[in-house]
Amino acid sequence: MKVLVLAALLAVAYAKHEEYIGWKSYYIGVTTDEQVKALAPLVDAYELDFIGHPTLNREGLVLVKPQYQAAFIQDADAAGISYRIHVDDVKRALDYDDQLIDAQKRSSLARNGGRQLPYDNYQELDVIDDYLDYIGEKYPDVATVVSPAKSFDGHPIKYVKISTTNFEDETKPVIIIDGGIHAREWISPPSVTWAIHKLVEDVTENDLLERFDWILLPVVNPDGYKFSHTTNRFWRKTRSTNSTVASQLCPGVDGNRNFDFVWNTIGTSSNPCSDIYAGPYAFSEIETRVVRDILYENLARTALYLTMHSFGSMILYPWGHDGSLSSNALGLHTVGVAMVNAIEAEALPYFPRYVVGNSALVIKYYIAGSSEDYAHYIGVPLSYTYELPGVSSTGNGFHLDPQYIEQVCRETWEGIVVGARRAGDLFPKPQD
Ligand SMILES: *[C@@H]1O[C@H](CO)[C@@H](O)[C@H](O)[C@H]1NC(C)=O
Ligand SMILES: [Zn+2]
Repeated sequence: MKVLVLAALLAVAYAKHEEYIGWKSYYIGVTTDEQVKALAPLVDAYELDFIGHPTLNREGLVLVKPQYQAAFIQDADAAGISYRIHVDDVKRALDYDDQLIDAQKRSSLARNGGRQLPYDNYQELDVIDDYLDYIGEKYPDVATVVSPAKSFDGHPIKYVKISTTNFEDETKPVIIIDGGIHAREWISPPSVTWAIHKLVEDVTENDLLERFDWILLPVVNPDGYKFSHTTNRFWRKTRSTNSTVASQLCPGVDGNRNFDFVWNTIGTSSNPCSDIYAGPYAFSEIETRVVRDILYENLARTALYLTMHSFGSMILYPWGHDGSLSSNALGLHTVGVAMVNAIEAEALPYFPRYVVGNSALVIKYYIAGSSEDYAHYIGVPLSYTYELPGVSSTGNGFHLDPQYIEQVCRETWEGIVVGARRAGDLFPKPQD
């Protein structure tokens, strides 16, 4: 009997990540515009899944399914696109990640009495939800938890409003930060919960509370986030379906292609099975509508919007759909550079250097319907996508070792601090 139970447990353990047997991940480098152009058809032909986009002087990271690896390599060679293995056996690397996470879980539970939100491990949805509720209850004078809607699968989408003046002082600029719109980017939500921690529990920058009102939404896409923990590690989209067969077969929409700005015109797909599916129409997803409504709620005084993604060590600003510069490009770039400098001052020497610039120009890839462009389009003067450090470079695991999560949170916070202050300085004062 015991043997049977053990066998069943092992079967479950090994059943995990089975869909990634034989997959490999490659760093790819493109150095010329011709190579960038040559890459585009390969993406479609071989269903390449970008975990990180290449820039002209920084390798990207791409997942390649077993059946396409030989042809992908051949075509990359022909086009002069350089590639090298990141992870030779993706399933094994994900199993290794799980071992690290499990080991951390045990020691973290011991350290924290089983309660606290970990920063030495990845954060599960329920733990984040509990933490937000705890913050609202413990610090009612500054923090209010809002749950405006439920996700497609019925999880509350929760955010925290932080204000010393109950959002009633109309002269204060508002800062909005969200994370977790792309489910698999697990480093993103902790960077937002850490900001909550630094604004409520461990305040070392008092001016940030005096000067600004804050809206912090750690997990835009709870369904996808949960699904990426329980079932499919590389799940990126929401989990919505309708009654059509196409949608039943391939649930979900790429939230960061679903915003209503030049929707579904470039860098998107109309195929529901694609990871960059823009959805049946703009704002088809409740999760993106929640972000839209937050942006509109205090639009006139929203100075800064940050959306947390991974990976790539980049800070990107509009316009991402065509690479043109916004009329506020000088402000966007100046504040972007200030944020990068602040992050770099705290970063570990062996972390990649940050790159700052226009989204489309930096990643050489145009994207329609992103929240970064949308926020700027409706009037937020400073709008950025952060691409946090998120993958392992050891060849063992796939993702960033959990021991570095707190480091990423700490350095990212430095960027947020400077971004907020600079945004406040630039933001037009209301007329007397
Ligand atoms: C249902 O979903 C499918 C796939 O996402 C989409 O093509 C179709 O337009 C959707 N139908 C409606 C009424 O939204
Ligand atoms: Zn992302």
